[in-house]
Amino acid sequence: MNTHTLQSHLTDGEFSFANRMQCIPKSFIREILKVTAQPDVISFAGGLPNPQYFPVEALKNAAIKVFEQDGCNVLQYAVSEGYKPLREYIAMRYKLTQNLDIDPDEILITNGSQQGIDLAGKVFLNPHDKVLLESPSYLGAIQAFSAYEPEFITVDLQADGIDTNALKMVLANQNIKLMYAIPNFQNPTGISYSIEKRIATANLLSNSNTILVEDDPYGSIEFTGKPMPSIKKFLNKQTILLGSFSKIASPGMRLGWVAADKKIIAQMIVAKQATDLHSNFLSQRIIYQFLMDNDLETHISQIKNAYKQQRDQMLGCIHKYFPQQVKYITPEGGMFIWLTLPQGYNAFDLLQKASEQKIAFVPGGTFFLEGKGQNTMRLNYSNTETQQLEEGMKKLGSILWEWMR
Ligand SMILES: Cc1ncc(COP(=O)(O)O)c(C=O)c1O
Repeated sequence: MNTHTLQSHLTDGEFSFANRMQCIPKSFIREILKVTAQPDVISFAGGLPNPQYFPVEALKNAAIKVFEQDGCNVLQYAVSEGYKPLREYIAMRYKLTQNLDIDPDEILITNGSQQGIDLAGKVFLNPHDKVLLESPSYLGAIQAFSAYEPEFITVDLQADGIDTNALKMVLANQNIKLMYAIPNFQNPTGISYSIEKRIATANLLSNSNTILVEDDPYGSIEFTGKPMPSIKKFLNKQTILLGSFSKIASPGMRLGWVAADKKIIAQMIVAKQATDLHSNFLSQRIIYQFLMDNDLETHISQIKNAYKQQRDQMLGCIHKYFPQQVKYITPEGGMFIWLTLPQGYNAFDLLQKASEQKIAFVPGGTFFLEGKGQNTMRLNYSNTETQQLEEGMKKLGSILWEWMR
């Protein structure tokens, strides 16, 4: 038998990829993460939850139970919209925690909330449609929407949420198809919308045809004990609300959800079928069993207490070790602290110096579309242990002092 490989007509690099691939920016963070994978690097770069608070034992027990009780079914194909009892649980939790009425059939289980962003783009965006983003915004959303070749319009974030005056102007003058916002402990800035801005945003959007994609992976990780209502509460049918188990249970299980009008869900189901048929059914069943056998709110309180301590430690380090000209935003939840260096200082240069001393963070410029924010940076506090956090911040502080002398 002749087994030699045929000579391909294509030479290296000649694949003619779709134009859309040119539009998708590469994730700078994933690139940094490759560097920070080395064990001796202290990384404030990733957006990873602290694995110490993954409910390993409880999920293991849930998995055993699911396999023992329903082994054949959990390994079978399943419906695209997701496991109904899990959707019922999510709807029930919205009712309990936010008094938000969502029908289980208005929920689609997704492969993380990242897929929810992608599905919103897939079902709503034609090339050149306008997508409004907060500036800065979450890189994964910029990547997901970019595949649908939209035009991005940005509106600045202020300390209490989006600049609603600028938002009003944009909505009055431009035909915006989707607005993407992260009103709770935003990635990357940690900023949350005040109640006034939530209501103002809903009011402005209600006078337009714009659909709000409200991404909320961090809302449950709040430190004040005063959770804010979703904007969906004020702008129901016009809002696609995205949620996730990544930050409250496990990101590796890849489970999130979309809560939206049934007509939107119906379109998303078709779009999702084309992508992956359905979200991992085994994961859905295990997480559901975990939710039945454990108190999620108790588990979340442990995460919140730990992250609050880590945030406080990082803020303490900024006070102790950083020059005063470095400004920062105190996040009331989530996983990130946003810093601003004095004008003229470029955080990419700082990263260069820091990585020589095996410290990593994300320069804030990567989260802006317009080349702005070169003097900003994002630090993650959730995934570094006490001693390393202190050591890394002390080193970063002395690099800053030396550099800014
Ligand atoms: C704002 C935001 N949205 C979505 C995601 C993706 O989360 P998931 O793991 O649920 O896909 C992240 C992850 O870091 C995020 O920060």
